[in-house]
Amino acid sequence: MNNRIQNQSDIVLSLENITRIYSQGNNQINVLNNINLDMKRGEIISLVGNSGSGKSSLLHIAGLLEKPNSGEIYINDVKCSKMTDFGRTISRRMSVGFIYQFHHLLSDFSATDNVAIPMRLSGYDKTYSKNKAAELLNNLGLGDRINHLPSQLSGGEQQRVSICRALANNPDILLADEPTGNLDSKTAEIVFDQFISLAREKNTGVLLATHNLKLSERSDRVIKIIDGKLIEN
Ligand SMILES: Nc1ncnc2c1ncn2[C@@H]1O[C@H](COP(=O)(O)OP(=O)(O)OP(=O)(O)O)[C@@H](O)[C@H]1O
Ligand SMILES: [Mg+2]
Repeated sequence: MNNRIQNQSDIVLSLENITRIYSQGNNQINVLNNINLDMKRGEIISLVGNSGSGKSSLLHIAGLLEKPNSGEIYINDVKCSKMTDFGRTISRRMSVGFIYQFHHLLSDFSATDNVAIPMRLSGYDKTYSKNKAAELLNNLGLGDRINHLPSQLSGGEQQRVSICRALANNPDILLADEPTGNLDSKTAEIVFDQFISLAREKNTGVLLATHNLKLSERSDRVIKIIDGKLIEN
């Protein structure tokens, strides 16, 4: 083990006093009200709460896709609030895998390319990236869909491509927004099993928003968002 790894703290993601307010005309929606959350390496945390409670907002802030109104985000102990946009992009690319609630696949590229492109952007060569993409897709039952465009895939298949894309760069943190929303219960279990092995074998911290209470019970911690606050079960 090298010094850098030995010196890493247990906490891979830390949200400190985060507040997120959306303004709509004269109305203000206080979606996250001074919340705090620490996630350890290898930990799986489920984020639950009613539709509109702020799950996606919290994940977008944790993944540096949106800025909070106030508060601080630490990824691998690095303070993120003062980063430039470029710094945020690099930090995201190096450390975070994000599974969007609405997939956001690149429509002109095949399933393989959608998964391989983040690897290419991180400097992996073409052959390695394509092979790894095919392996990830195969693991989620898409071995015979690797050359399909997103428009030629079902909603659940697109969701699985988006999961593979998030896993491609072996992220320290996986943020997953309703990752099993479009999946039948058997496929949802397979996806969740994959999250568990990522956490246990690769020490990835997994934070997922879900309405699936049966799956959330398999995580290490369940946190509910109620009225802008985090309540731990
Ligand atoms: N850009 C925005 N402008 C104004 N209000 C917004 C914006 N984005 C989200 N909101 C509001 O913030 C609240 C939280 O939204 P968010 O998407 O985080 O909820 P959620 O818990 O992920 O819900 P769901 O379970 O339906 O996905 C909602 O009431 C939503 O209408
Ligand atoms: Mg949401």
